[in-house]
Amino acid sequence: MIKLNLTTHNALKTEITCVPVFEDQNFNIEKLDINLEQTKALLKMLGFTGKRSTFQGITLADRFMVFYGLGKAEELKSHHIREVGAQLYAALLKYKCSNTSIIAPCMEDSQRSTDFAAELGFGMQLRSYAFRKYKTVQKEPFFDLESTTLIVSDEGAVQKNLAEKESIAQGMFLTRDLMHEPPNVLYPETFCERIEELKNLGVKVTILDDKKLESLGMNAILAVGQGSSHKPRVAIMEWNNGPSTEKPMAFVGKGVTFDTGGISLKPPAKMDEMKYDMTGAAVVTGLMKTLALRKATVNVVGLVGLAENSPDGNAYRPGDIIKTYSGQTIEVTNTDAEGRVVLSDVLNYAVKNYDPKCLVDLATLTGAIVIALGHEYAGLFSNDDTLAQQLNEVGTDLNEKVWRMPLCEAYDRLIDSKIADVNNCGPRQASSSTAAHFLQRFVEGKPWVHLDIAGTAWGEKAHPLSGHVAYGFGVQLLNEFVKRHYEAS
Ligand code: BES
Ligand code: MN
Ligand code: ZN
Repeated sequence: MIKLNLTTHNALKTEITCVPVFEDQNFNIEKLDINLEQTKALLKMLGFTGKRSTFQGITLADRFMVFYGLGKAEELKSHHIREVGAQLYAALLKYKCSNTSIIAPCMEDSQRSTDFAAELGFGMQLRSYAFRKYKTVQKEPFFDLESTTLIVSDEGAVQKNLAEKESIAQGMFLTRDLMHEPPNVLYPETFCERIEELKNLGVKVTILDDKKLESLGMNAILAVGQGSSHKPRVAIMEWNNGPSTEKPMAFVGKGVTFDTGGISLKPPAKMDEMKYDMTGAAVVTGLMKTLALRKATVNVVGLVGLAENSPDGNAYRPGDIIKTYSGQTIEVTNTDAEGRVVLSDVLNYAVKNYDPKCLVDLATLTGAIVIALGHEYAGLFSNDDTLAQQLNEVGTDLNEKVWRMPLCEAYDRLIDSKIADVNNCGPRQASSSTAAHFLQRFVEGKPWVHLDIAGTAWGEKAHPLSGHVAYGFGVQLLNEFVKRHYEAS
C-alpha cells in the first residue's frame, strides 16, 4: 500500500506536484511561485476546465505539475474525491516518477478539508493494490508509487482520519487477495488457514471441520461439498471488544470456493469466474480484519460457510432430501442453487449458538440479481425496516449502494416442497426473492438482512477504486454500518 506522508508545508518542491482545480477556476496555487494568470491561460488552451475526474499534466518552469479536476465545490462529496484520488494514483503511474506531492483542496469548512484530504489519500491507497504473485515474467518492470506527500491544512486531524481509513483498506486488501486466489490454491481448508492469521490481531477463530460438521448435523453444507475432494469447513471469527453483556452482531458469508453447478452443471462460458463465489466469505473476513485493526468497540461474530460445489460420483444430486442443522428438510431441485443450502446451516448455527441482535449475510447468490441491478447496486432483502434503512443510508454516503428488493408471502409459497419442507430452487420468476425467502426460513425471525452481491462482487469493467482487480464491495459498507449504529463512541 502506498505510504502517505503528511505535511502542511505548502511550498514543498517535488518532481511532480499535483494541484486541485475546481470547475469555477478557483486555483489553489498562490504559494507555488508560478504565474497564476499564465497557468490559467495555458490550462484553458488545453481545454482543461477542472471537471471532476479530469487530469492535465504540464511542465512549468522547473517542474511538472498535474492538475486534477474536482468539479463544482458545492457538488463535491467524499466518495467523489476518493475516486479522484484513485484515478490520480493511476494517472501518476504513467510518469514513473517516485518524487511526488499532492496538494489537498482547501475548503472553507475545516472539517470538510480534513475529510476530503483523507478521502483523497484513501482513494490512492485503494488503487495502489496489485496482485502479482503468479506473474513470473514481466514484460515491463512493474512500477508502483511507493509513497507520496499530501499537503494538508491540519496534519493531526488528517492523520487520525487516515489511520482509520488504512484499517479499512487493509481489510479490503485481504478480501481482494482471497478473491484473486485460484480455486486450486484456495479451498475450504486453505481458506481457514488464511482466517487463522487473524488470531494475531486478537480475533478468536474457531474452525468446524467436516467431522465436527457431521457430529453437529450440519448436513446441508456437507451435502454441497460432498462431491469435492476438498471437504467443507465453517470458520467462526469473534471480535468481542464491546460491553460483555451485549449480544453480538453476526455477519455470515457464502464461501463457495468454486461453483461448477454440481450435477446441475453450469455451461462452460466464464465458468472460471465462479472462483469468486466465495466473495461473501472474503468480505466477512476482510470486515473482521478491519474491525480488529481499528479496535472497534463492539461485539461481532463473523461466520463463513466454505465448500466446493463439484460434480462427482459422490456429489449430491437433484432429488436428494437433506436434513439441515435447523431440523428442516430441503428437497434439492437444482444442485447449482448451492449457496442458499450452505447458508441455511450457517445462518441457523449463528442464530442458535450466538443469539445475535441482528444478522447480515453476504452472498453471490443469484444471476438474476445481476440482471435486475447490474454492477451498481447490491440487492438487499430484509425482514427489518430499520436495518434496511440504515444500510441504505450508509451505502448512499459511501457509494457502496444497495437497493431493497421485496419479500412476500406469495414468493415464499413458491419454494414449498411437495415432499420435504422446502425446495432449494423455485421457478424462474422472482428468483432472487425466492432465494432470499429460502434463507429467511433459517433465521427464526431474527432481524436479518441478506445482501445479494453477485453483481457488485466483480465485473468486466474496471472499478475506479481498484482498476482491473476486485474492489471488495461490502467491507466499507458494513464497517461504517457497525460504527454508525452499533458502536459506543
Ligand atoms: N453463484 C451462483 C450465482 C451467480 C451467477 C453469481 C452468476 C454470479 C454470477 C449461484 O450459486 C447460482 O448458480 N445460482 C443460480 C440459481 C438457480 C439455479 C436458481 C442462478 O442464479 O442461475
Ligand atoms: Mn450455483
Ligand atoms: Zn454459487
